[in-house]
Amino acid sequence: MLSCRLFTFNFPLLIIHIRREALLFIEQLELLQRRGAIDFAQEVIAQKIFWDLQMAEHAQFIAHLLDPTEAVLINEANNFARLFFNLRAQAESGANPLGELIGQEITATSNLCNFKATAEELILGCRIKSIIFPLLADHLLREANHFLRILNTSGQIFGLGNQLSGPLICSHSLFKH
Ligand SMILES: [Fe+2]
Repeated sequence: MLSCRLFTFNFPLLIIHIRREALLFIEQLELLQRRGAIDFAQEVIAQKIFWDLQMAEHAQFIAHLLDPTEAVLINEANNFARLFFNLRAQAESGANPLGELIGQEITATSNLCNFKATAEELILGCRIKSIIFPLLADHLLREANHFLRILNTSGQIFGLGNQLSGPLICSHSLFKH
């Protein structure tokens, strides 16, 4: 693909992104297989750094797959990309306490999750113009929910009960009836 001998309608970054997720899954399975000890604080930071990048790229994919006339949504998606790259840089710098990072992250991820849920609903209802395959939209939403679950579990482990008032799962209204 990168040497132009194969043409697909997928962005090269999408392939790298999916491969990165597969590698993480293998890594986690191997960790379980070795029955290795897990340092929860380190693990949360590592997961956060990983999923911040994935969330930022999801927002970039959404921005690039929307019709150019969908300026408001493109702008919102680009803002989410910037936000998650920023959150990742903060986690990498190690400057902020873990509780603060998780709290900020839960708010940001809930907002992104709601944005993705709305986007999926609009795509399914044929109310926005895009070349986003509905199953891709649903997949992006499921990964935000996966990250939210990791954050909520981490928050409970680190005693952040007060900040966990939001819903554990976000979904579009087609699933709420
Ligand atoms: Fe992803």
